This record gives sequence, structure tokens and C-alpha cells, in this order.
Amino acid sequence: MEFCKLVLLSLIGITVVCDNVLVDYYESLIQEEIRRAATYTFPKDAGNYRPFNEKPIVFGVIDFVVIGSGSSGSVVASRLSENGNWTVLLLEAGGEESNFNEIPAMYNYVASLEYNWGFNSTPQVACCLAMNGICPFPRGKSLGGSTAINAMTYARGNELDYDKWSEENPGWSYQDVLPYFIKSENSHIDDGDEGYHGYGGYLNVEHHVPTSKKVYTFLQANEELGKPIIDYNGYNQLGASRSQFNTIHGRRQSSSKAFLAPDVRSRRNLKISTHSYVTKILINDTTKTAYAVQFSHNNIQYVAKIKKEIVLSAGVVGSPTILMHSGIGPKQHLKELNIPIVKDLEVGEHMHDHLTFYSIQFTSSIFDPVYTLRESITQYLNGFGPLTTAVNTQGIAFFQLSTRNTTVPDLEVLFIPTVPANTSGYVHVGERMWRRSYDTQVSQIILVLLHPKTRGRIFLNSNDPFVYPLIDSKCLSDEGNEDVESIYRGIEKVMELFDTKAFRRINATLLPDPLCTDRTFRSRAYWMCLIRLTALNAYHGGGTCQMGPHPSMGAVVDNKLKVYGIKNLRVADTSIIPVTLSGHMSAPAMMVGERVSDFIKKDHGFIH
Ligand SMILES: Cc1cc2nc3c(=O)[nH]c(=O)nc-3n(C[C@H](O)[C@H](O)[C@H](O)COP(=O)(O)OP(=O)(O)OC[C@H]3O[C@@H](n4cnc5c(N)ncnc54)[C@H](O)[C@@H]3O)c2cc1C
Ligand SMILES: *[C@@H]1O[C@H](CO)[C@@H](O)[C@H](O)[C@H]1NC(C)=O
Ligand SMILES: *[C@@H]1O[C@H](CO)[C@@H](O)[C@H](O)[C@H]1NC(C)=O
Ligand SMILES: *[C@@H]1O[C@H](CO)[C@@H](O)[C@H](O)[C@H]1NC(C)=O
Ligand SMILES: *[C@@H]1O[C@H](CO)[C@@H](O)[C@H](O)[C@H]1NC(C)=O
Ligand SMILES: *[C@@H]1O[C@H](CO)[C@@H](O)[C@H](O)[C@H]1NC(C)=O
Repeated sequence: MEFCKLVLLSLIGITVVCDNVLVDYYESLIQEEIRRAATYTFPKDAGNYRPFNEKPIVFGVIDFVVIGSGSSGSVVASRLSENGNWTVLLLEAGGEESNFNEIPAMYNYVASLEYNWGFNSTPQVACCLAMNGICPFPRGKSLGGSTAINAMTYARGNELDYDKWSEENPGWSYQDVLPYFIKSENSHIDDGDEGYHGYGGYLNVEHHVPTSKKVYTFLQANEELGKPIIDYNGYNQLGASRSQFNTIHGRRQSSSKAFLAPDVRSRRNLKISTHSYVTKILINDTTKTAYAVQFSHNNIQYVAKIKKEIVLSAGVVGSPTILMHSGIGPKQHLKELNIPIVKDLEVGEHMHDHLTFYSIQFTSSIFDPVYTLRESITQYLNGFGPLTTAVNTQGIAFFQLSTRNTTVPDLEVLFIPTVPANTSGYVHVGERMWRRSYDTQVSQIILVLLHPKTRGRIFLNSNDPFVYPLIDSKCLSDEGNEDVESIYRGIEKVMELFDTKAFRRINATLLPDPLCTDRTFRSRAYWMCLIRLTALNAYHGGGTCQMGPHPSMGAVVDNKLKVYGIKNLRVADTSIIPVTLSGHMSAPAMMVGERVSDFIKKDHGFIH
């Protein structure tokens, strides 16, 4: 009981309940799973799903089949099954979540286990050079999809991003989409702007507790530079604030935990089938109508026939892959692979992603308290403390590279008061979340380039649906090197923070990254070296089945998310997003899920 008393004394005002049996349970769970993550290797293909039977078994005839239970798919399955007269089947390749992946700080370990597909990029020539050009490309493979493994930052993007999206796609302006963000949300943010937040939705939004003292220094430094304290999901995004997270009382709230809560899962008209790997959508070539989904479950092949529609929500990698295996994709590419062409569309092209630069770390003269694992677990069980955050990005700021007549930010700054040492670990799959030593508390700033010029591509390696697709991220490869320059100018902006009174007051001292010590510390050459070696995609991919007014302009879906030229088939996930967003991708994907559900309900006469 000793540690319980200590925790109680150090946190006046917060009631802490101690339960040694639960603490024991979590302690051994964490130790076991960390051990397992150290040796786990990702499968190299989807061969473990390969079926024994050649002729598929008819699984049933269902009104709607939803493919993928991530940010979008969980919402779609939840909303469509609100109509008790509609049968809904949700197919997910991954399995259930666990008490382990629910602990936010286990982020790095969770992404090293079976919750992640474990994809990598094809060898890159302009980025990830410290990793031989191989950038990790994690994607969630679980109920909850990527929200089972992500960092849970809730950031919708800028009003004008959506207005740009709607220029060619009526119905997607900020005014059109804001009600859907609000519909999903259950905000516990005390400082949110009025009119921008929802309070009765499925998706919890909260700040991390407690806020580190260093975060207030970060906010002060920003204010000194003329950047106000704002609600970045509100009226004005240019400024700094505490981060908003999709946790609930400090636990990860994935999209399935939120939208497929027990009362939804118990609906008799909703069937969720996990470990179900979709290989193909069957389309009648004469009528160009999608009529069934082929999938493999426990090595048995099934077809689920539909009465109404198929909604493809398999994400930025999964959705284009399934479409191409179904004959929907670039004609030349499918021809090369001997896949019969059903519809020639630019599937897999135009992939956008944010870029992340991690190599800014510093020491200071103020320290966050350090707890043992058992103390941290007790805090976690009470909804606060180091285990309740993934990357500890407690502070956030959005800024522009030059003063422009727009309110759209160019860069995002994530402020980590203390790089987690014993919780998140310090080496992420490929990311170098390096840390000097356990004796010194190290803070970190992560820079995110929000509107890169480069576009990547997803394409097939084989016509065998059990072979993984290829991901050419093309990061930092734009001809004019604008992306590299923008990151460099962003770093210069971040360096301004170090000259503020607030940062000097805490003796914030930048640490040289050991990778580029052959260049003069803080010189342009030093930063350029680090950018090429370490910058990588932010896991915010989109655009591979992009929305647009016409297929001749590279569009795969129309503004109602229907695949061009194919009946009864829609795509709803980040792959349809045609523009770069000044935020993170989960909230927008959920919004897409909310919207497609309403389009479908309208088309089928459930709402008007
Ligand atoms: C490590 C990491 C950190 C991130 N951090 C943040 C963050 O802090 N904030 C934020 O907003 N965003 C973050 N993101 C991005 C965000 O989580 C994703 O962009 C978003 O969740 C994508 O939603 P989606 O619905 O498009 O796809 P996903 O959530 O990826 O869902 C797709 C689902 O389809 C399933 N699937 C795929 N192929 C098949 C198949 N053949 N058969 C059956 N099922 C299939 C997958 O298993 C998965 O469950 C992060 C992402 C990662 C990977
Ligand atoms: C379901 O169907 C029944 C019988 O046709 C009908 O009375 C009822 O209104 C329907 N419910 C909904 C939600 O559409
Ligand atoms: C395709 O649709 C046509 C017209 O409805 C029908 O005659 C044909 O049998 C269908 N083909 C398949 C493979 O279902
Ligand atoms: C953190 O990990 C290091 C290295 O494994 C260890 O020496 C240290 O005691 C740990 N600290 C805590 C607080 O558990
Ligand atoms: C800034 O943009 C707004 C809206 O686009 C426009 O009305 C205004 O005239 C612009 N101001 C300047 C100084 O360009
Ligand atoms: C500031 O930090 C540096 C690096 O840790 C240290 O060498 C220096 O003595 C510190 N200065 C003050 C005034 O604390």
C-alpha cells in the first residue's frame, strides 16, 4: 500500500483509488506484452488467411456490407444499423482490441504487434535515409483500425481546407461538414470555442491530465511571438494550445470503442466478423453493379451477397488494393497483372501525407515528476498520469511560414514536455524518438509539414490478393525541393522559441542529434542533413481513391462517395479526401463516415 499513499500525497485534490489486484494484473500484462513486442515479426503477406476451398460458401444475403472497422467503417456500421430493418455486416481483417492497446503510453509496443499491418514504403531516395530509404507505414489491423494504434490527437483541420475541397465537390465546405464533426463529438474541453463542439456524441475528447509545467512555458513562448492561445478545433487555428485527445478518462477510445460500444454491438441486425480478410468485390460486368464481397475467414472462403450497397472503408492502403483486385483501377497497371478490367480509374494514385521531423530535442531546468510503473498504473486506473498519453504531445501549435492573407497554417508543432522513457520506450518503428539518457529529462518538438507538394502511390505487386500491395510514399521528392525548404524554414521558426524569455527562463538547451555531428550544429547544412536522414511520412495518408467531379480529372468517387461507373459501391475513408488537411486524419475520416451514412439513409428513404 506504500505507493498508494505516496500518490495520494503528491496529488492533492485528486481522489486516487488503489486496487492492488488490478495493479498486479496491469504490471504483468505490460511486462509480458513489452517482451512479446521485442521479438514479434510482422507477416510479409496475408498468406495466413489463404482459404482451403476454391468455391466460396455463401455467407448470406445482407442489406449492407461495410469493409474495415477503422475511423470511417466503425461509424458507418454504427449509423446504418440504427435502422433496425436493415441488416449490416462489418468485415474486419484484424481481431478484437485488448486491455494492452487501450493504454495510450503503450503506443510504440502496440504498433510493433499484430494490431499493425506492418507495411513499409518501397525504397525511397529523398527521405528516410537513416533507415536506408525504407519508411515505416503503419496501418491499424484490428477493430478500430488505425485508431487502435494511433496517437489519438484530435485535430479536424482548417475551415478553408474544406472550403477548398468543396470548390470542385459541392457539399464538402466547412459549413457542410461542421455539423457532422459536432454530431460525433462528446467534448470535455473546458476552453473550446462556442458553436464548434458537440457534447452528446460517441467520440470523447479531453485534455491530458495533469498538464506539465513545461506546457505553460511553451504557451508563454508562443504568446511572446504573437501566437495567441486558441482552440485549434474552433474559430481560429493560428496559435498554440493544449492538445485535445480521443481518450476517455485517460484510456484509448478507438473508433470501435466509441461507435461500436456494447449497446451498438448487441443490435441484432448488426453482425461484426473479425479475422475476415476481404479479397475482392464481385461486380456484374454487364450491368456494372457490385453484388457481393468475397472474403476469407479461418481459411474458408465466403461470399456475402448484398441487397443494397457495399461501403469500402479499408483505408488509404486497403481500399485501393481491394478495388484493383476487383478490376477497378488504372487500365495499364491491371493489364500488366492480368486482372480483368471492370472500370479504368486512377485508383492508388495521388496519395498525400503529412511529413514529420522529429530531431529537435532539448533539456531544461524544470522537471516533470518521475513515477515507478506501479505508481503510473495506479494513476492510469484513476484516469491520469504518464500512461494516459501516447507520445506525450501535450502542447500543440499551428503557424505559417510567412504572413499570408489566409488563416491556413503551413506547419504544426507538437510539444512533448518530457520524452517518455520507460513507458512509450524511445525507439518507435523506424522513428528515431532518440533520448540522451535516463538521468536527464529531455523535451522534444515535432514538426509536421501540413501541405506537402509530393504525392505518392499505392500499387499492386501481384494479382494474388494475399500478396501485400506496394507503397511508394515519394516523400520529399518534389522537383523544386519545396518540401525540404518548408521544413527547414519551419525549423528556423521553431528556433525562435528558444530565443524567447520563457524558454530562456527555463534554460532550454538544444541537444545536437548524434546523426549529423559532422556539420556545424544548428547550421543550415546540419538541419538539411537531418531532414533527409530522418523526416518521414506522418501516417496521415489520404487521396488514393480521391473524390472529384470527373474520372478524367483523376477522381475515383463522386461527391456522394459513389465509385464512378459502378452501382451499389461507395468508398468512405481517408482515401477519398482530395486535399491536404491542416489537422490529423482520424476526425476527418469519422466525419466522412457520418456523411456517407446520411447519404445512404437519404437514398434509401430512411431520412429525408
Ligand atoms: C501510428 C499512427 C499514429 C497516428 N496518429 C494520429 C493521431 O494522433 N491523430 C489522428 O487523427 N490520426 C492519427 N493517425 C492517422 C489516423 O489514425 C488514420 O488516418 C485514420 O484512422 C484512418 O481511418 P480510415 O477509416 O481511413 O482507415 P483505418 O482506420 O486504417 O481502417 C481501415 C480498416 O480496414 C481494415 N482492412 C484493410 N484491408 C482489409 C481487407 N482486405 N479486409 C478486411 N479488412 C481490411 C484494416 O484492418 C482497418 O481496420 C495515425 C496513424 C498511425 C498509423
Ligand atoms: C421497419 O419495417 C416495418 C414493417 O415494414 C415498418 O413498420 C417500420 O416503420 C420500419 N422501421 C423503420 C425504422 O424504417
Ligand atoms: C449480370 O446481370 C445480367 C443482367 O441482370 C444477368 O443476366 C447476368 O446473369 C448477371 N451475371 C452474373 C455473373 O451475375
Ligand atoms: C527506466 O528504465 C531504465 C533502463 O531500463 C532503468 O534503469 C530505470 O530504472 C527505469 N526507471 C523507472 C522509473 O522505472
Ligand atoms: C484577404 O482575403 C479576403 C478574403 O479572401 C479578401 O476579402 C481581402 O480583400 C484580402 N485582403 C488583402 C489585403 O488582400
Ligand atoms: C543550462 O543548461 C546547460 C546544459 O544543460 C548547462 O550547461 C548550464 O549550466 C545551464 N545554465 C544554467 C544557468 O542553469
